[in-house]
This record gives sequence, C-alpha cells and structure tokens, in this order.
Amino acid sequence: MDIRTLTLDDHAAQFRLGAEAFGTPPYPATPPEAPTSLPQGRDVWGAVDDGELVARVVGHTYESWWHGRRVPTCGIAGVTVAPERRGAGLLQPLFEAALGAAAERGEVLSTLYPTANGIYRSLGYEVVTSLDTVEVATAELSGVRPPTATRTRRARVEDVPAVRALYDRWAAAQNGPLTRTGPRFATTDAELLDEATAVSLAVDADDQVVGYATWDRGADYDPATSVLEVHDLLAASLDGYRALWRMFGSFSSVAGRSRLSSSGHDPARLVLPSATWRVVARHPYMLRVSDLAGALTVAAPTLPGLGDIEIDLAVAGDRLGRADGGFRITVSNGTATCGRVAVAGDVPTFTTQGLALVFAGAQSCANLRMLDHLAGPDTHDRVLDALLGGRPLHVRDYF
Ligand SMILES: CC(C)(COP(=O)(O)OP(=O)(O)OC[C@H]1O[C@@H](n2cnc3c(N)ncnc32)[C@H](O)[C@@H]1OP(=O)(O)O)[C@@H](O)C(=O)NCCC(=O)NCCS
Repeated sequence: MDIRTLTLDDHAAQFRLGAEAFGTPPYPATPPEAPTSLPQGRDVWGAVDDGELVARVVGHTYESWWHGRRVPTCGIAGVTVAPERRGAGLLQPLFEAALGAAAERGEVLSTLYPTANGIYRSLGYEVVTSLDTVEVATAELSGVRPPTATRTRRARVEDVPAVRALYDRWAAAQNGPLTRTGPRFATTDAELLDEATAVSLAVDADDQVVGYATWDRGADYDPATSVLEVHDLLAASLDGYRALWRMFGSFSSVAGRSRLSSSGHDPARLVLPSATWRVVARHPYMLRVSDLAGALTVAAPTLPGLGDIEIDLAVAGDRLGRADGGFRITVSNGTATCGRVAVAGDVPTFTTQGLALVFAGAQSCANLRMLDHLAGPDTHDRVLDALLGGRPLHVRDYF
C-alpha cells in the first residue's frame, strides 16, 4: 500500500471516490475537466493499492481563533474509503501522513466536521461544538424591540473592510471560528458582496458598522413554503442585532421561515422575544490538539491576576503518537506558555480527547475525570478550567 499525496493525474479516481461516498454530485457522474494546477492551501493524501486509489483524506491549511489568537489549524475533510476496503484501518496511515505534513507547516491543531463522531475518536478528536442551522418564524422577528439609534443599509464595496473587521472582532472573542484568511477565503471585497443576495449593515448614528448580515432570499414568495437563508448575522451591540432581525421580519408576507447559520449559545438569540429557535440541521465539530506546547504557546491564554504558577502534566494514549508526552505550562504575569519536559512523579494525565476538550474550554477537568479522560492529582484542575475556559465555542464555516 502506497500512502502519497495525490496529483492532477489522480483527478478522475479521486472524483469517483468522493461522488460514490457523498453522493455529490449524484453517482455516476462524469468527472469535471481536471484543473491545470493543484489547488492552493490544501493537500490530498491517498492510499493507493496496486495502482488503485482506495482511500483519501484532505488536509486544509487554516487558522482558527483560540483564546484570542490565530492558531494554525489543519482542517480535515473529504475522508473516504472505497466501500470494498472499509473496516481495514486505512484511516490511521492516512491521518499519520496528513497530520505529519500539517505539523511541518506548524499546524498544531486539527479540526473536522464528522459524518459520525465515532470515526475520529480513537484518532484523538472530540466534539467541542457544532455548526447549526436554526429556524425561526419570520413573523416573530417583527416583535423584536426596535433599536434606538441604529438603522440598516445595504453594504457597498467600500464597507467590506468594516464587515471583515467586525467578523474578526467577533471571532477573536470566541474559541473555534476560522480566521477566513488564506486561499479558500481569498476573495476581493467585490467578490465577497457577490457571494450572496446581499450583505446588509446595521450602522449607528455616525454610520459606523455595528452589525452585518449576509443573506440569500431563496425561491418563491409563498409564505407557507419560502425560506430566507441568513449565513452570517453578527453584531457588536444589541441594537445591531435588533435592527438586522427586524429587517428580516419585514419579509414575513413572502418568506414564512428564516434560517440562520449559528452555533453554541448565539448572542443573536438574546434579543428575540419568543422561545422559538428550532435546530433543523447540525454538523458536530471535532478538535484534536496535536502539539500542546505549540498550541498553548501560540494561543497564550491569559488570566490576569493568576500570578506565576507552573503546572506539569502529561498526555498519553495518542494512537498517532504526536500528542503524547510531558508538558509544563508556565503562567507568568497571568499569561501561559508551554514547553515539553520530562515530567517526574504523578502528574495530571489527559487522553488526547480530554486534551481537546480542556484546551477548548468545552468540558471542566471534573467532568473529564468522570469520563476517564483525566487522571492523577487534581491540585490544578480549577486553574486549568479558569485559564482555558470562559470563551464561548462557535464555528461558522463548513468544510
Ligand atoms: C467513514 C469511513 C471513512 C470509515 O472507513 P473505515 O475503513 O471503516 O475506517 P477505519 O477502518 O480506518 O476505521 C476508523 C474508525 O472509524 C470507525 N467507524 C467506521 N465507520 C463508522 C461509522 N459509520 N460510525 C461510527 N464509527 C465508524 C471504526 O469503528 C474505527 O473506529 P476505531 O478506530 O475506534 O476502531 C468510510 O466508511 C466511508 O468512506 N464512509 C462514507 C463517507 C464518510 O462518511 N466519510 C467520513 C466523512 S467525515
């Protein structure tokens, strides 16, 4: 079995594998013409047996926001094993290769949207949040309290830098969102406006952007069937959310339902008067910390007032080997860094999944102990919870 990066010559075989597995486009379909160069910002690893492509994993080069910093992240997608070859453990060597290449690029984290969570658990990934589609009755949006000094207007190309800045401001305050930089997101300001029906702004009395929504109108105008799709609805004030929701409420005569891409405890919900918030689709999002020392040094979580403290810990049981070892988290003036050390004696020891959950602030150390994801002395449990917790988990981009 040959594990190697795929090239343009593998285009047709790769297309067939993906179409068979995911049904998009419906199989059988004719492969589109092969591109003339490999796409930037991702590599595709294949398992090739006697000239036949039998499995594939795609690794995207991303950055995502964790603890207020941009952390290099390998986004795994397109995972496929040919039906006749399933159950033979082909994913392990493919992930070893894909995450090995990711490590060389400095990608200390890896994330993915699983079709089934169990596929990736033993490879060290765990669910930390999900990308949800939520539905609300459009008529109920008219009941949102009016904003005081905020109005809506259509975004023009010169507004796009402010839209991007608002996304960055919001994303930096969460754990998880992609930075929307790099080849996949390399769109000009004009292209960004063309990606949807419209980008609408909420602006304050000084015409400063305090919120925006990217949305698609959808088909037809029968309120019983028509659905308005809102992709991003982000604001830096309650009034921003109010103004944008009320604008969507004005569609109630022609689109009975509005759908929003959302995640976690979405602040957009905090101005809705009704309890309606129906999740109609959910994509879990899994995280793996491949290099704790690298991830904590880049993310540098802070807890002002914590003072100086050293925490020795260990990670054990990573089937891919990379995450295991001893580590020392050093908090100085409230800011953490981390290095690899030879730990001595009994230290808190995380499984790879436990490490993902605590790094994300998705579970407390106490919960991890109940799930056998953490063992050993509990002296620093509350410090780790406080240092790594406190940021809501959110995602907005599917891959
Ligand atoms: C999912 C898929 C890639 C798994 O292939 P496979 O050959 O069974 O993979 P492996 O033999 O390497 O097994 C990997 C792990 O996945 C688990 N697994 C496989 N299919 C699973 C499923 N449907 N649900 C939950 N776990 C599953 C295996 O039990 C194994 O777990 P373990 O390592 O803890 O023992 C393959 O079934 C496939 O291509 N499915 C269709 C496309 C798809 O869903 N891809 C995933 C996209 S996120």
